[in-house]
Amino acid sequence: MSNEEAAWQLGESFAPSPQFASAANAGDPAIYARAEQNPEAWWAEWALKLQWDQPWTEVLQWTPPHAKWFVGGRLNAATNCVHRHLATHRRHRRAIVWEGEPGDTRTLTYEELSQQVVRFASVLKDLGVQRGDRVMLYMPMVPEAAVAMLACAHIGAPHSVVFGGFSADSLKERTQDCAAKVVVTADGYWRRGKVVPLKQTVDEALADCPDVKHVVVLKRSGTDVEMQSGRDVWWHTLMESARDVCDAEPMESEDPLFVLYTSGSTGKPKGILHTTGGYLTGVTATSKLVFDLKDDDLYWCTADVGWVTGHSYVVYGPLANGATVFMYEGSPDWGSSGAVARDRFWEMIERHRITILYTAPTLIRACMKWGDEHPAGHDLSSLRLIGSVGEPINPEAWLWYNRHIGHGRCPIVDTWWQTETGAIMITPLPGLTTTRPGSASRPFPGIIADVVDEAGTPVPPGRKGILVIRNPWPSMLRTIWGDDDRYQQVYWSRFPGLYFPGDGALRDDAGNFWLLGRIDDIMLVAGHNISTMEMESVLVEHPAVAEAAVIGRTHDVKGQAPVAFVIIRESRLADMTTAELRDALSNELKEFVAHRLGAICRPDEVILTADLPKTRSGKIMRRLLRDIAEGRILGDTTTLADPAVVASLQELHAGEEA
Ligand code: WT7
Repeated sequence: MSNEEAAWQLGESFAPSPQFASAANAGDPAIYARAEQNPEAWWAEWALKLQWDQPWTEVLQWTPPHAKWFVGGRLNAATNCVHRHLATHRRHRRAIVWEGEPGDTRTLTYEELSQQVVRFASVLKDLGVQRGDRVMLYMPMVPEAAVAMLACAHIGAPHSVVFGGFSADSLKERTQDCAAKVVVTADGYWRRGKVVPLKQTVDEALADCPDVKHVVVLKRSGTDVEMQSGRDVWWHTLMESARDVCDAEPMESEDPLFVLYTSGSTGKPKGILHTTGGYLTGVTATSKLVFDLKDDDLYWCTADVGWVTGHSYVVYGPLANGATVFMYEGSPDWGSSGAVARDRFWEMIERHRITILYTAPTLIRACMKWGDEHPAGHDLSSLRLIGSVGEPINPEAWLWYNRHIGHGRCPIVDTWWQTETGAIMITPLPGLTTTRPGSASRPFPGIIADVVDEAGTPVPPGRKGILVIRNPWPSMLRTIWGDDDRYQQVYWSRFPGLYFPGDGALRDDAGNFWLLGRIDDIMLVAGHNISTMEMESVLVEHPAVAEAAVIGRTHDVKGQAPVAFVIIRESRLADMTTAELRDALSNELKEFVAHRLGAICRPDEVILTADLPKTRSGKIMRRLLRDIAEGRILGDTTTLADPAVVASLQELHAGEEA
């Protein structure tokens, strides 16, 4: 029995305190029924809280699998997230509170943020960026990352943020795929006391991107960079002379807001397209109800802007609600003094009086490992709500989070969603939901989720199945950039008419959903989707590699860690005579993958092998590889072409571990 199955049967549950419930933004359980009866009316109520330049004429046009929300309406995302707050009491309130890894801090009020956004918008325009043009953002976690995103939105230029830990090749591929003309980056940023040289990586990436006409470089680390004349320009130089007037572009509700790349199972990343009106509606509603945002909160979502969580719950959702957002540049285990400090998060929560924390299970598990004394040494009494996202949170981690961070006082929101869904889909509402550790509880009002079998038939409570969403929702992806066939095939062909997220799930008797992880070949490494196929296709580009199979092995901190099984070319076998030589090649391959795909993709282990277990039709049996990598007893091997392969692999793996 898996953890999740065991947990839902144990049935420990946690109800919100009467104090929390009585003050909560979502306090009336009737919203569930109301939203279910008429989802369009429910979403339209939320959309009405935004500022529209022109009202919509139709809430939803649904021609499966293509949805259009708030058709005919016009609005601007930067206006909604920033400028409109200047007409309210929020004008002089803090929008962003930021801390750098070395301990430097900055605060931007809504008024200051608005000025920066308008100025950078006019900078982009002067560089030739027009409505509809794509802009790549390869930025550290600094306020300017949010400024750049919002400035793009201000002029109607979709942004595509690439995580600052990704490699030159990843940046190149994404820049080419969306044919961007401008890249915004920084000289470097601080991570565990060292500078990560972003600009240098951009230069490498752009060697093959002739369409990029300009690179805007923010000075953050003070590192020396090469500035290519005619192409590269400093952020501060442009901002000094920038105009303070630049009208926000009134965008069609269905105009693109951003493209964000996520791993795909055929190797090529998928550019997930989100549009304006529906996306903003979804993130506004969920931020307000799930995080219970209030004016006096200091809200911290620890995600990087390179991930969808950073888009929806660092920038767009909280700012649309006029909240105060905390941002941190660096590593959770590094102190401002420049040495390891495993209490950095708790120290900042105490010092800034942070009230809401939204983080990932991988971080929670790392903190469990580092020891209870780190949070215990700090006053965490400012916290009133804590959340989790990125992968299933195991009950042990949930209970630790509840006890050592929430002190039994803070509701926990375990939120299930995806890059593709744009906004939170399955989640507790903190003032309403009685939670069970390990379960993301119920679909957000207006979302209709189900668990079905291979044939698409709903399965009874307590049985494992496949998660599906039955109705369109405003923040759903609209397509894959440049590849609508793939959009239809990946998300809508498994069960026609139903959205297929690719996750396994189980529903308990009380209607709570328990997410069981990916059912395809996507690994979840430290909360990030990484495709096994993408990694395999990189490995086989190495001259020594004939064939490769990558699987995700259970890892107590990262959730999953990649393990690669690699067949060496015959021509190179003669060089592999000693264990040292084999180790050297394994290490070389780990670095090769890390260099090509980013450090987050570095395999935990590379196992050199003579053969791979395959079915008679030639499909690699990943289930067996997973069993081998995890040292488990093997499952059924009757479909195996050459059963002897498994035995020899097991010996090899035992040898590697010894
Ligand atoms: C996949 C989406 C959503 C932003 C971060 C990741 C897994 C995410 C949970 C959760 C169980 C979760 C799913 C999903 N996932 N949150 N609370 N419980 N699983 O975005 O990279 O698009 O990954 O993350 O497997 O499909 P993403």
